[in-house]
Amino acid sequence: AGSVQMSTMAVPRAHAGHRLRCVLAVVCALCWASSSVRFVAGQAGQLSVDASPQTARKMPDKMFGIFFEEINHAGAGGLWAELVSNRGFEAGGPNTPSNIEPWFIIGNESSIIVGTDRTSCFERNPVALRMEVLCGSKGTNVCPSGGVGVYNPGYWGMNIERRKGYKVSLHIRSSDAVSLTISLTSSDGLHKLASRTITGGKKQFTNWTKIQFRLYSSQNNTNSRLQITTTKTGVVWLDQVSVMPSDTYMGHGFRKDLASMLANLKPQFLKFPGGNYAMGQYLRNAFHWGETVGPWEERPGHVNDAWGYWTDDGLGFFEFLQVNGTQTHSLTLKH
Ligand SMILES: *[C@@H]1O[C@H](CO)[C@@H](O)[C@H](O)[C@H]1NC(C)=O
Ligand SMILES: *[C@@H]1O[C@H](CO)[C@@H](O)[C@H](O)[C@H]1NC(C)=O
Ligand SMILES: *[C@@H]1O[C@H](CO)[C@@H](O)[C@H](O)[C@H]1NC(C)=O
Ligand SMILES: *[C@@H]1O[C@H](CO)[C@@H](O)[C@H](O)[C@H]1NC(C)=O
Repeated sequence: AGSVQMSTMAVPRAHAGHRLRCVLAVVCALCWASSSVRFVAGQAGQLSVDASPQTARKMPDKMFGIFFEEINHAGAGGLWAELVSNRGFEAGGPNTPSNIEPWFIIGNESSIIVGTDRTSCFERNPVALRMEVLCGSKGTNVCPSGGVGVYNPGYWGMNIERRKGYKVSLHIRSSDAVSLTISLTSSDGLHKLASRTITGGKKQFTNWTKIQFRLYSSQNNTNSRLQITTTKTGVVWLDQVSVMPSDTYMGHGFRKDLASMLANLKPQFLKFPGGNYAMGQYLRNAFHWGETVGPWEERPGHVNDAWGYWTDDGLGFFEFLQVNGTQTHSLTLKH
């Protein structure tokens, strides 16, 4: 008997079969735990596993399943339906001002200064975007028509479908009155597919405020982008900017087309979140399951150093368990 920790997955490349069992065991432990225990933040839990040979069950020799890895954006930008890439502005690292890639600036240095600082309301992912708008709607420095701001092309262009709803969520803070236009547009920004303007008085956004609404597109566009623009002078901070299609696989946030294909394979198990990705090149970059559950805005995310990109862990342990890929009931755990 011993306690199970996620570090069982971070051992050096062991025999593949052994690793698979480790993963299944952890998955199963969690299924079991969530059904009988309510987790309370800050409370330590202890899980004991009786792994003695007498309680062992033989693994069926014809058990076919699927192995999913966060590689080449198979998760973020693939199976996971989130459209905004680097939605929390953490991908450029913890030191500010940081690279905001793949966000781009709309306007130039005479109209807007864009950077990052560590003023987010989220303790574990402190980086926020800061936009200092120098131009205005009148006076000597008039903003270009369409305004200035930032845009995000998502993962190589957002696929926006006509009449489908898109759930937009973002956090805003401002030193002044706010008038921000949030739109889905063509890849050059010239053609608007859907748009909403958020306004507020001087006091309304002095503290971070979460805004949520839905956008409906009038057209299909497989290469769209999200724009956040303004023609109002002042400083605006943004954080945790998300655009999620309303229509996802069983409402769990997985892309319907891709998740249906996986389900149609009728896998008897799903191994996730990967091989190299699960353990990382360094332990600090491993997939730590405890940081991939709970409100997505508060997940710290991590560097996927195995495959060279940042993941915000929006597709986390919680989301994987919702797809029912895991048939783990053949393993029995005892207290
Ligand atoms: C900035 O853009 C404006 C057009 O909006 C243009 O008139 C101006 O010359 C540009 N300034 C610089 C420094 O590029
Ligand atoms: C901002 O937050 C502070 C601290 O929570 C609170 O005292 C203040 O009333 C808030 N201001 C507004 C305008 O909501
Ligand atoms: C829009 O895209 C959907 C999904 O790909 C397709 O079924 C539909 O026919 C398209 N509509 C138009 C007007 O192109
Ligand atoms: C998961 O399984 C439960 C019970 O069999 C079922 O009600 C639910 O729809 C399934 N969810 C998914 C996402 O397959």
